[in-house]
Amino acid sequence: MKYRFVVLLCSAALLAAACKPVSRGPVYLNLDADIEDRVEDALSRMTLEEKVAVLHAQSKFSSPGVPRLGIPEIWHTDGPHGIRPEVLWDKWEQAGWTNDSCTAFPALSCLAATWDRELALLFGRSIGQEARYRGKDVLLGPGVNICRTPLNGRNFEYMGEDPYLAGAMVVPYVKGVQENGVAACVKHFAVNNQEWDRTSTNSVVDDRTMYEIYLPAFKAAVMQGGAWAIMGSYNLYNGHFNCHNSHLLNDILKGEWGFDGAVISDWGGARDDEEAITGGLDIEMGTWTDGLSGGASNAYDNYHLAAPYLARLRDGRTDMETLDAKVRRVLRLNFRTAMARDRHFGNFCTPEHDAAGRKIAAEGTVLLKNDGGVLPLDIPEGGKILVVGENAVKKQVVGGGSSSLKTRFESTPLDALMEAFAGKADVVWERGYVGDISNSYNRVSTGQDLSDPRSPGQLIADAVAAADGADCIIFVGGLNKSKHQDNEGTDREQITLPYGQDKVIEALAGTGCKLVVVNISGSPVAMPWADCAGAIVQGWYGGSQSGRGLVDVLTGVVNPSGRLPFTVPFALEDGPLKTERQYPGISEEGKKWKQEYYDEGVFIGYRWFDAQGIAPQFAFGHGLSYTTFEYGDVELSRSSLRAGTPLKVSVTVRNTGGRDGAEVVQIYVADKEASVARPPKELKAFGKVFLKAGESRKVSFTLDADAFSWFDAGAHAWVAEPGEFEILAGSSSADIRSAATVKLL
Ligand code: BGC
Repeated sequence: MKYRFVVLLCSAALLAAACKPVSRGPVYLNLDADIEDRVEDALSRMTLEEKVAVLHAQSKFSSPGVPRLGIPEIWHTDGPHGIRPEVLWDKWEQAGWTNDSCTAFPALSCLAATWDRELALLFGRSIGQEARYRGKDVLLGPGVNICRTPLNGRNFEYMGEDPYLAGAMVVPYVKGVQENGVAACVKHFAVNNQEWDRTSTNSVVDDRTMYEIYLPAFKAAVMQGGAWAIMGSYNLYNGHFNCHNSHLLNDILKGEWGFDGAVISDWGGARDDEEAITGGLDIEMGTWTDGLSGGASNAYDNYHLAAPYLARLRDGRTDMETLDAKVRRVLRLNFRTAMARDRHFGNFCTPEHDAAGRKIAAEGTVLLKNDGGVLPLDIPEGGKILVVGENAVKKQVVGGGSSSLKTRFESTPLDALMEAFAGKADVVWERGYVGDISNSYNRVSTGQDLSDPRSPGQLIADAVAAADGADCIIFVGGLNKSKHQDNEGTDREQITLPYGQDKVIEALAGTGCKLVVVNISGSPVAMPWADCAGAIVQGWYGGSQSGRGLVDVLTGVVNPSGRLPFTVPFALEDGPLKTERQYPGISEEGKKWKQEYYDEGVFIGYRWFDAQGIAPQFAFGHGLSYTTFEYGDVELSRSSLRAGTPLKVSVTVRNTGGRDGAEVVQIYVADKEASVARPPKELKAFGKVFLKAGESRKVSFTLDADAFSWFDAGAHAWVAEPGEFEILAGSSSADIRSAATVKLL
């Protein structure tokens, strides 16, 4: 019996072994093998020339694989809110493909305004699927540079002014993208907080400010999100260009944070042979070569990490270990993406992606003011809505720089209002002002003709006349993606609205009609007319479903729950950047590059306004709902603790209004007494909670040592000093509803 059992077992084992696919061939092609073993195996088979080849571009948006070994090329794409249309092999010009019109998702400033981690995951997942379908391996996004000044042209691509918020939102985005076997390339690392002279300005920032404000979102993307790629920024930081800034890339990113992915240069961001080799760069893209005039047969051979590197390796001027370390990272990127196991094929322009974009656009819309319940719109049957403003009709997906997209469809606010009120009310539109009539970017055209010969005075007069008999006026204006607006490569010139819009709004207010002002922008704008508007809404560049997402909120189909990811000041002068040396930087005797001093240190955004006691127009975290919420007491799991012991913070929130809705509960920590100047309070936790009318729920958060600490540059360590801390629960940074005190021992 025993013998028969053993025989049976042996035959079963033999059978199993026979059925298991025996992996023949090299380890690097064995999908079952450990990724590090595959990397080492591939590396051992590569020639010197093949190793150098994978470290730099072969076209505008691709870098080579190893053709002899069957290792594929890596295809990169912008990013960060849709898949960029194809350009020519060597040029920025459109390739003219007809299959590359993507779903444009909302800009990341809108995503940040949702304060909803699940929507960040949905965003990442959806855009990752589109990247995958389009055959891309690296998505050049998300961007998490902090909004230091309202004037930064690229604020619209980033996630606001607070490192905790940006960090919390970037993690699920990265995870969602990478689920698809597509790498997120988090950008622009680091302190790239202005577009003005971005390739020739040295950001001078002290360590405490770096670690507390400008690095945390990147750190979260790497250490919690597991980002597979990071893009260096154009500017210099403390004297070195960031695409090969050894301190930033070798010491902090790869050293302190243990980043095992690839550092990719911004396009043209690598500037020096030696630093490109030793400064932590792994893949060089977009370098501005002098074409073929440098003597090489291929312009890409002129790249710092191409022929110059090869020459140094051949004559022993530089070491092989650094080369191998770079190649390992590129191979790892390859095995995680282009050669990933079980990589699906993605999908593109699906109804689900449209629905995701519309949801994010609506949930990011921020209701800033709503006096007398002007919103949601309550228009009598057969009534009249007057819509005024260029942004009601202007398509905004095209423009703004590298994030410009080609999309099959774009819903404008006017179209969406007409859809929503079809057969119920008359929706009429008046221009009000002429702003930017351009209709194309990089040869992608919206096909719109926005020219209008009327004078500014006439436009206003016509808009005012059209208000006759209107039940409500909706002004839709703000910025756009042209030069000196929300736009890569230039900063804004002022914080006020361009094209005389303030005058238009004031004239409309003068009609006495109910007035809703919708500001569409990716940055804070001054609102001197705020008192005379019944309702004010902060809208964003919402992508393909932009208009519909916005109108869902205006009509009340969606109860607004968006919150400002930045402070809206009354005036630029109220903010922390007071001198030219702070912004936009100054030229200094004997210094090659412009210097920009971050003298304000950690005091930016609400940290500054709080510390100075200056009231902003609308505070960070502010946003209204069509219902109201009441907060109970803040309950703490203990009244005193040692740093490092988790503290549980709970607060009961009740929906006290008549509608279902979501509240963003924000937890700020205030250090009552510190040995250094600290911001009066800092966001350290938040959560979005949906409550039916009348419902209440206890929401809980856990604060760990990070929540109490500041960065001691001298000791190069985070310090949680003993003493009293206040734990504040609020609906915005300026609307704290309850508080409790805890003592750190
Ligand atoms: C931008 C990057 C972008 C790259 C490729 C650069 O000019 O700064 O954000 O990903 O171009 O288009």
